[in-house]
Amino acid sequence: MNTEIGISEANRNAVALELSKLLADEFLLYTKTRNAHWNVEGPDFHSMHLFFEAQYTQLAEVVDSVAERIRTLGHYAPATLAEFLRLTHLTEKSNQDNTSAGFTKELLADHEGIIIFIRQNINVFATKYEDAGTSDFITGLMEQHEKLAWMLRAHL
Ligand SMILES: [Fe+2]
Repeated sequence: MNTEIGISEANRNAVALELSKLLADEFLLYTKTRNAHWNVEGPDFHSMHLFFEAQYTQLAEVVDSVAERIRTLGHYAPATLAEFLRLTHLTEKSNQDNTSAGFTKELLADHEGIIIFIRQNINVFATKYEDAGTSDFITGLMEQHEKLAWMLRAHL
């Protein structure tokens, strides 16, 4: 069934490709935040264990919303770990530093990278690809990442 929502197929393809990269980034960041939740060590273990859980819980919702936005545009969402690793801008570092500061710095850098990627696409989606809906959607996601990044930054 065709997706007839007033956006050309070429433009929907272009937006879905960028969203697929974003989905991969979100999935890696979700996994990296679970790593922090599981493996953090130090005198602040308990509070940081819970803090990272709150962050990955929100990221799980973000992952779902990005995948469903791709489906809304008439595309299938990438949904294998191999595809996520191929598409992502992030790197899976094996963290040698299991302190809360070590994890926090790395996660913060990833959030900031995602914020910059989203910000670069807000106007592109709205003007070049004439997709105001996805532009609005990623603007909301950017605000969520800005808040998550603030909370990480406030620990450093
Ligand atoms: Fe847990």
